[in-house]
Amino acid sequence: MTQEKIVVVDFGGQYNQLIARRIRQCHVYSEVVPYTTSLETLKDESVKGIIFTGGPNSVYLEGSPKMDERIYSLGKPILGICYGAQLISHQLGGEVVSADVSEYGRTELTTLPSRLFNGVDKQTEVFMSHTDRISKLPSSFRTIAYSKDCPIAAFECVEKDIYGTQYHPEVTHSIQGQKVLENFVYDICHCKGEWKGDTFIQDQVQKIREQVKDKKVLLGLSGGVDSAVAAALLSKAIGKNLYCVFVDHGLLRKKEAEEVERVFGASSSFDLNFIKVDASELFYEKLKGVTEPERKRKIIGATFIEVFENETNKLSDVEFLAQGTIYPDRIESGLGVSATIKSHHNVGGLPKNMKFKGLVEPLKDLFKDEVREIGLLLGLPESIVYRQPFPGPGLGIRIIGDVTPEKIQIVQDADYIFREEIKKAGIDREISQYFAALSNMRSVGVMGDFRTYDYAIVLRAVQTDDFMTAKPYPLPYDLLTRIMERIINEVKGVNRVLYDFTSKPPSTIELE
Ligand code: XMP
Repeated sequence: MTQEKIVVVDFGGQYNQLIARRIRQCHVYSEVVPYTTSLETLKDESVKGIIFTGGPNSVYLEGSPKMDERIYSLGKPILGICYGAQLISHQLGGEVVSADVSEYGRTELTTLPSRLFNGVDKQTEVFMSHTDRISKLPSSFRTIAYSKDCPIAAFECVEKDIYGTQYHPEVTHSIQGQKVLENFVYDICHCKGEWKGDTFIQDQVQKIREQVKDKKVLLGLSGGVDSAVAAALLSKAIGKNLYCVFVDHGLLRKKEAEEVERVFGASSSFDLNFIKVDASELFYEKLKGVTEPERKRKIIGATFIEVFENETNKLSDVEFLAQGTIYPDRIESGLGVSATIKSHHNVGGLPKNMKFKGLVEPLKDLFKDEVREIGLLLGLPESIVYRQPFPGPGLGIRIIGDVTPEKIQIVQDADYIFREEIKKAGIDREISQYFAALSNMRSVGVMGDFRTYDYAIVLRAVQTDDFMTAKPYPLPYDLLTRIMERIINEVKGVNRVLYDFTSKPPSTIELE
């Protein structure tokens, strides 16, 4: 059975991934491809519809990205969004001009009867973001929506199955945007909506088996969500032919190494070869006395590769390397171009001496929340599936100054309490990232009748979509108080708790 899909043709808009994400919410597989993709590819019978995205250019300027005009005769339904809608108009004989008034933000839209707007209110709120507008439609096209400053805010040409919206149905500010996309996917493209987690798993299991046959596969397991889900999926497909190498660098959160071993180790339900390497001593030795953040990062990265290589070189007959690469990773490294091998999960380096016959990346088309869904379906515990991001250098960059086993213990214990209380408060899934770090500051305190001279713990909790910028998460004061009291009472060596509520920028999320 060919898998039906909707192809999103990328013209450089900032919401392109989101369009694919929204289509997948309709249980139809969708992928983003560059606008230079060949017609041959788009002609494929699996392609049930095509969406042109928005983009920063003006269609009437020379050199702006265009589509091969033969696409309009393929007989595939097309939906243009923003720049995509202007492009359709421009290429089929309409006119696009610079708008007298740019529209940006929430806008009141009036819709007219159309298949695209079935079930959508006559007056609805949408998100606009444009400086050009369509001033004249190609012949046989008609307007199906307008706003105060945009007389042609959506159009259709039923005979050709071509539609366009000047606004962005994919963003949540367009209140009935998902309905519009559903209308396109189901009523116009006639998709069945059969793309679901369990079919994905069956499909991938079969593909992995076909690709690797009876050969062995190596996967570096970091304990993070992506590599864990990849391990579970590969284990289902090839069982004992999967070798998972998990390096414990001694800079993990409290109980993390044990949990990875519990889930994937010998007594777990996953029947794979789990190789745990406890390299804590080596890392502590190499980090001794090092205080400069970049040097710490470099030492941790290099030592990780050294340990990983030593281990994997023992597995001489492994032919495939598996990675937990996900869709956003590929988009960041430039889709369409041959997929760059992502640096080893969380660390930055692959075993150099090993020659692999091929790369297995079963999650490469999935978004993070889809990876999580698959993880749950494969039986991974929520504690792994909903794990928040954790940097490769681990607690090494959450301890300011030199790293010692004593400081690691302090930060692990404080962090554990922090996480426990956040979970108890029921807000763990609302906060993008939260952790305790150890400032290198020691200060005077009093406990009982004694003077203390101990460390200060820093609490950090941030809210972010892309981790490029972040806002502090507003933790309730009584919760902060409870956490502070527990840390002071339960963690030896701490007499002060500080709350870092700085945004990024100017701070970063991590302390180093
Ligand atoms: P910063 O501190 O730069 O962090 O604001 C942004 C996000 O990236 C994570 N991070 C890392 N992840 N290896 C990783 O895999 C690293 O070296 C690394 N440094 C920072 C950080 O936890 C946050 O989510």
